[in-house]
Amino acid sequence: MGIQVAGISGSPVPNSNTDRAVQEILEFTGLSTQFVKLSDLEVAPCRACLGCVKMNQCVVQDDGRALADLFQEASAFVLGAFTPYSSLDARTKAFMERMYCHRHRIGGNARKAGVAVITTACPPGVPGLPPAAETAASQIAFWMMEEGMTNLGTLVIQGNVPCIRCGHGDACAMSGIKMLHGPDASVASVGVKTCEEDSALLAAAQELAVKLREAVLQ
Ligand SMILES: Cc1cc2nc3c(=O)[nH]c(=O)nc-3n(C[C@H](O)[C@H](O)[C@H](O)COP(=O)(O)O)c2cc1C
Repeated sequence: MGIQVAGISGSPVPNSNTDRAVQEILEFTGLSTQFVKLSDLEVAPCRACLGCVKMNQCVVQDDGRALADLFQEASAFVLGAFTPYSSLDARTKAFMERMYCHRHRIGGNARKAGVAVITTACPPGVPGLPPAAETAASQIAFWMMEEGMTNLGTLVIQGNVPCIRCGHGDACAMSGIKMLHGPDASVASVGVKTCEEDSALLAAAQELAVKLREAVLQ
């Protein structure tokens, strides 16, 4: 049996919250899956050369071609991203652009069902802070809409600002810890967040996996 659900993570952090949440959803589906970490590959952004128009194959000679084949084979996907500077990370965006090659005439991305996973250090919904998760989620949602895909939902994970583990988080004048969590916050008070500690998140991941399974098996 081929790949039924592709899992793609744009997070470059080894075994990151994004990676683990994507893998968790894949596993919960009980279907045949493949996980890809974009930082292990070379996937350049789309050149807008339209070289893909005739054959529905990208002419850029990098790992994006094999990735496009994998994506084509899967009828559903989980796309995980993080939010550097409050929007979608560059690898995930490049991946989305490169899937453009399937589009011409045959609408090769249409009818796929997808789920987004967004990991953000910026707590969602706090006045005065950028809407990082909302921005990234809407970027993926509109990509799905433009490609005719079915959007089954988004999982938002509270991740970690890099200053938590850089070693200078309490002393550095540019530390994001106080910016995100208030003037009294410190490395110790904020702590390292893991997606596994949030039981509501795991339940939501399971729900999304059930939706993916139903979409694939219908
Ligand atoms: C260069 C850089 C800039 C970042 N800027 C933001 C930001 O503006 N907003 C935000 O929510 N998180 C920001 N982050 C933090 C990431 O979203 C955070 O590291 C993410 O939670 C990590 O996810 P992971 O656990 O999957 O690695 C930034 C991270 C990096 C490396």
